[in-house]
Amino acid sequence: MLKIEDLNKFFGGIKAVDGCSFEIKEKTITALIGPNGSGKTTIFNLISGILRPDSGKIMLGGKDITDKSIEDISNLGISRLFQQTRLFNNLTVRENLLLALDNEDTKFWSVFVLRASADKKNKFEKKIQEMLELVGLEEFADKLARDLSYGQKRLIELSRAILNPHNFLMLDEPVSGVAPRLREKIKEILIGLKEKGETILLIEHDMNFAFKISDDVIVLEKGRVIAEGKPDEIKNNPRVLEAYLGN
Ligand SMILES: Nc1ncnc2c1ncn2[C@@H]1O[C@H](COP(=O)(O)OP(=O)(O)OP(=O)(O)O)[C@@H](O)[C@H]1O
Ligand SMILES: [Mg+2]
Repeated sequence: MLKIEDLNKFFGGIKAVDGCSFEIKEKTITALIGPNGSGKTTIFNLISGILRPDSGKIMLGGKDITDKSIEDISNLGISRLFQQTRLFNNLTVRENLLLALDNEDTKFWSVFVLRASADKKNKFEKKIQEMLELVGLEEFADKLARDLSYGQKRLIELSRAILNPHNFLMLDEPVSGVAPRLREKIKEILIGLKEKGETILLIEHDMNFAFKISDDVIVLEKGRVIAEGKPDEIKNNPRVLEAYLGN
């Protein structure tokens, strides 16, 4: 589904991504893990076109997307949850979700200025309702995003990434700062999506969460892939333990 070949990205003297190659298989959940500053978010930024690599290649479904724009890449079907919160605080939960469903500005305004057909609006409403039920936040639909708790905001952001039409989902720390009960919920939602045929790449600091949810794990350290494999193999890999525990 996604293939990265010898990817490099330098920031001045820092090798944020240093000769990374890996492949993400279709209909799997892959966890990208590694200590702080190991290059995980930079790889996401390179894949989604926010940053340009210094060298290397990124292929999505057989198509070279290395030099494509953010818009082109998003139109090719990559949806992303950012590490930092990006909700529109002064819009309601429902409006935030509506924006994700119909993410071109022109379409967005056509929905709000009531030029969209009643049919289309009903379709959107239904999808939003289903999504809110999935994350258990139906009663918050008309609350302003700014009034939600951090964990609730995270769920709404995750909902936005899921609603955004896509065939490849990238999530940067979906459960960071989220309470244990909600983590379980997010895990179930993501596994449910995979069972429906979705392909997910997620960055995760909580190793237990990463091992429980993923089919494959890729471990980064200082911009390099130091291990790759099934959760059970990674769990017992001395090189990985060393990177995490620093001994
Ligand atoms: N825009 C930038 N300009 C300069 N340096 C950057 C920039 N973005 C990232 N870096 C550096 O590149 C390295 C990798 O950062 P990155 O954010 O990819 O790490 P990460 O694995 O996502 O870390 P964390 O787990 O803390 O989120 C770090 O040393 C970081 O300081
Ligand atoms: Mg990061």
